[in-house]
Amino acid sequence: MGKKLYIQTLGCAMNERDSAHIIAELQEKEHYFLTQNPKEADLILINTCSVREKPEKKLFSEIGQYAKLKKQDAKIGVCGCTASHLGDVILKRSKSVDFVLGARNVSKISQIIHQKRVAWVDIDYDDSAYVFSQNPNSTLKGMINISIGCDKKCTYCIVPHTRGNEISIPAALILDEAKRMVGDGVKEILLLGQNVNNYGKRFSNEHRAINFTQLLNEISQINGLERIRFTSPHPLHMDDDFISEFARNPKICKSIHMPLQSGSNAILQKMRRGYTKEWFLNRIEKMRSLIPCLSVGTDIIVGFPTESEEDFLDTLDMLEKVRFDTLYSFIYSSRPHTQAQKWLEEDKSVKLVDEEVAKERLMLLKERHKEILTEDNFKQIGKIHSILFESFDEENLLLEGRSDTNKLVRVKAGRNLVGEICKVKISQIKGAQLLGELI
Ligand code: SAH
Ligand code: SF4
Ligand code: F3S
Repeated sequence: MGKKLYIQTLGCAMNERDSAHIIAELQEKEHYFLTQNPKEADLILINTCSVREKPEKKLFSEIGQYAKLKKQDAKIGVCGCTASHLGDVILKRSKSVDFVLGARNVSKISQIIHQKRVAWVDIDYDDSAYVFSQNPNSTLKGMINISIGCDKKCTYCIVPHTRGNEISIPAALILDEAKRMVGDGVKEILLLGQNVNNYGKRFSNEHRAINFTQLLNEISQINGLERIRFTSPHPLHMDDDFISEFARNPKICKSIHMPLQSGSNAILQKMRRGYTKEWFLNRIEKMRSLIPCLSVGTDIIVGFPTESEEDFLDTLDMLEKVRFDTLYSFIYSSRPHTQAQKWLEEDKSVKLVDEEVAKERLMLLKERHKEILTEDNFKQIGKIHSILFESFDEENLLLEGRSDTNKLVRVKAGRNLVGEICKVKISQIKGAQLLGELI
């Protein structure tokens, strides 16, 4: 009998990808298999996120809960961004933790599980660390990290501290991994990085010079691969070359996540985002002129220190102008190792926005976005989309899949078409769901 692994994954797609790597490594090298029940696990891993304060604070109570319910000899490991951020402080604060493994050290998982009470959180990197075990359970969709870390240093963000400097993974490794996945049946690949379109800026060694647009083009030439997605691109690096490849290449899905963060130029400057709202709008207009069906998602922070009512109205105005298809919105959370936190501590004129005001702004933003989504969803009726079917509910004969534009669509069908891409006409809207018919 193999050993059982329970893993909890918090945070972004990069953490999900790291968890997939961890699972694959432990399956192949240590004969673990996954369980959904922490009570029966031999190893409990928490893959943590530290982008906002709340989840980080909850970590120690979560460790306490796992410590109570775990089997007697089971181990607990803390991985990911909070592991990088707090390092051996986690071991000092919690006697139940057996090891701490940083976000940049996941390839060492099969070694660290045999250690006692250690924290490995260094951010040095060599190429061997990019090569991971292959996940034997690959499905229709695959994720590939194309870069690690971030050089941007936006003033609110802890990620450059937890994930280190930005390093691009050599294109040869990415292409090999993509080909291997497609050989295993993967139809859609999601390319991951904090700044995907800054790809190629720095490699850890001498490697072929190649930028993001060229990388997209080369990946798209893999036979059998149907779709490419990527997240997150930075609005600053969206040059015309990228936009024309994005529009022209039929394998690149026509949905893009473009984190705006704020609609106010003054706040964008304080956040050190490097673009203005005019540049952001110009990029959207250029893309929409070439791709009328384009779907655009975004991230917005409200209540950044000094954000005035007028600044917030600028953000609402951007929502009206762009009409984002998806919106992830957050109240500013002050994080250690960030410039904004330093300003708050050292400059008396920089103040946090009142909590109630920030909550109200978040609510207004979310409500208006909901209305926009409902209005825009109705415009989908009669439209034809290509859907990659991902699941089939045999009892209700319902297929579910995503359009090229990343909309979730359900279709009644007499047979299982999972893995196929079919044309579907949208016929009905039910809440946020799109229902359609095969044509
Ligand atoms: N690399 C991506 C974002 C990574 S973090 C980019 O450049 O946009 C994911 C999201 O968390 C961010 O887009 C931001 O909206 C949010 N976020 C990051 N730091 C935050 C903070 N201190 N408080 C609130 N939200 C934050
Ligand atoms: Fe954070 Fe900015 Fe880097 Fe995104 S680009 S990870 S928000 S520092
Ligand atoms: Fe969180 Fe780390 Fe991702 S801080 S958002 S898990 S890069």
